[in-house]
Amino acid sequence: MPAGQIVFLGDVHGPRDKWELFRQVVARISLENEEELETIVCQCGDFGYFPNVFDFWPPQNVEIPDWMRVFFIRGNHDNSWALQEFQDCGKPVEFVSRIFFVPDGLVLEFFGQKILFIGGAETPKSCRAQLGIDYWPGEVVNMRSIFRALNNCQDAGPIDFVLSHTCPSSFEIINDKGVEVSDNGCRRLLQEVFEVVSPDFWFFGHYHANSEGKTGTTIWQDLGQTGEVRVFIF
Ligand SMILES: [Fe+2]
Repeated sequence: MPAGQIVFLGDVHGPRDKWELFRQVVARISLENEEELETIVCQCGDFGYFPNVFDFWPPQNVEIPDWMRVFFIRGNHDNSWALQEFQDCGKPVEFVSRIFFVPDGLVLEFFGQKILFIGGAETPKSCRAQLGIDYWPGEVVNMRSIFRALNNCQDAGPIDFVLSHTCPSSFEIINDKGVEVSDNGCRRLLQEVFEVVSPDFWFFGHYHANSEGKTGTTIWQDLGQTGEVRVFIF
């Protein structure tokens, strides 16, 4: 009998569809998990954390089963001003029952697998209509997060998985439909982490591209925003 499963999930953008995509993903995982294995869902940001801005938090009409916990990092379409308050907690913060925010740079271990979580990305200029609604000046990957990630990885030893919102510069994303792909400061900072950490797998979203590849020994994938998941059973 396996100990449990880790599920990696792409962008959700909960408020855009009143959490319908997320509801469907949770339902699908539930359907395929007849044995009710302990399940850790790692969501790559743009979850849809908009407290006090829209009437969309907490996630509506979504019931997280007892055997599931959801861990999300910050994307560029989450209120990073509000999340800033939790960045120094040093542990995941349970916002709603079984839904946790993971501060930047934490390493968590589930079923013997070490996962580095590091959020942040830059909203493309064309999408910056309203400050505090569409984008936040603090949304980018920052040096503080990078230092914390590198320190934590040094303490943790080899990292199996990394979850971020955008991705390192060296990942050549092929995108024919989503967010403009450009090299920028966020990607260069993640590249510094990549060159030190070199995990087995690196998952991200942001570009909505469903693109995948291998750089060095690391298999990477942009999980897109279609509810696609990658499941690992241990
Ligand atoms: Fe997104």
